Amino acid sequence: MSEDFGEMRQTIVQLLSHMRDGKEIREYLKRFSGLKQERFAVVKVGGAIIRDELDSLAAALAFLQSVGLSPIVVHGGGPQLDTALSEAGIETERVDGLRVTRETSIPVIRQTLTTANLAIVDAIRAAGGQAASIPTGVFEAELVNEAALGRVGEPSNIHLDLVAAAARAGQAPVLTCLGETADGRLVNINADSAVRALVHALQPYKIVFLTGTGGLLDSDGDIISSINLATDFEDLLKADWVSGGMQLKIEEIKRLLDDLPLTSSVSITKPAELTRELFTHAGAGTLVRKGERILEVDSMAALDQTRLDGLVSAAFGRPTTPGYWDGLALERAFVTENYRAAALTTRLGELIYLDKFAVLDEARGEGLGRAVWHRLVEYAPQLLWRSRTDNPVNGFYFDQCQGAMRRDEWTVFWRGDLDPAAISPLIDEVFSRPATLEPPR
Ligand code: ARG
Repeated sequence: MSEDFGEMRQTIVQLLSHMRDGKEIREYLKRFSGLKQERFAVVKVGGAIIRDELDSLAAALAFLQSVGLSPIVVHGGGPQLDTALSEAGIETERVDGLRVTRETSIPVIRQTLTTANLAIVDAIRAAGGQAASIPTGVFEAELVNEAALGRVGEPSNIHLDLVAAAARAGQAPVLTCLGETADGRLVNINADSAVRALVHALQPYKIVFLTGTGGLLDSDGDIISSINLATDFEDLLKADWVSGGMQLKIEEIKRLLDDLPLTSSVSITKPAELTRELFTHAGAGTLVRKGERILEVDSMAALDQTRLDGLVSAAFGRPTTPGYWDGLALERAFVTENYRAAALTTRLGELIYLDKFAVLDEARGEGLGRAVWHRLVEYAPQLLWRSRTDNPVNGFYFDQCQGAMRRDEWTVFWRGDLDPAAISPLIDEVFSRPATLEPPR
């Protein structure tokens, strides 16, 4: 018992240590608590996680319960099934990557998945949380192709009564990917299909995939922090470093999100990082959103100035100076379609000057700012900009710049192959420009 509470404690300490103040966690808590609890989150847990990371999983789920949040857990059991079936002398067959389920393996499958289900439920209870085991009774299914795949079903109907009852009683519902045909035969359901059907029925705010890698990996093997499907999807499917498996995963996620409101998102993370992923902007894992398209225009006439002003003022926490917009000789603007992130440029001699880069607080953690930035620097490989020396975004700017110079309250940054000596008159000019936002209070 004490050991499990130790895990939960670690979860909390780890969460707290990643926050500058309680603002982020309060914001997310408010956002998540405002939802009908069966709409908060669907959490998909793979069999390998049950085998390798059960304690962290239970601690994270018990922690969510302790703050009043009840995600719906769906689990698979691939590795467990492989072992159990081979112990029973049944060979694993696959057709197009799908497991073939012979009649004779049904008892083994039922037994194995029920055991996995109970293991999760027991672990959550041991960690101080409440959980309800719901191994069957949710997915009504039709046989896909009995001749080729055997007892494999595709969900045709979802029965949410058990799930809702558990959620009402404050218990995390733990579901297995097992279904029944209308005439009561037990069938195996592919985990992606089960999640898709559940997501369609519940319309959750978050979908979470818990995996061993804790996110989707880029070509260097690092976790991709966020993906904005509206802007990244095509490129990702074309990129040569994206494996076939990852492509399928991304397509499956797109399919899930296409069925949900814009505010919903998918997170891929690992159990030990789940709390940090949910309660911080930066997260820990890969966040995938449907995202917004980015408008690229070269005249203010093509933009809604009032909305743009609202975005800039909200992002910086203070208004633009009077006359700012009238004096702006816009060269190019990149603005997301809902005016939640924008980059505005002007000309500076031969160069391009980034006059404003603004991202709404509520859009942080979505990757929207990065998407705009990416478009900007693609357009302007050579770029100059300035920022108040105490701006918290400067860490990002230092990462992105080739050089920077600081004078008192301003820091000027540049990117691209520029000779500081050659551009020094321009740098001077940028330093001497009057402020375009009312002074910070
Ligand atoms: N906490 C927010 C959420 O769950 C943002 C997470 C950001 N995560 C990321 N990997 N960039 O939706």
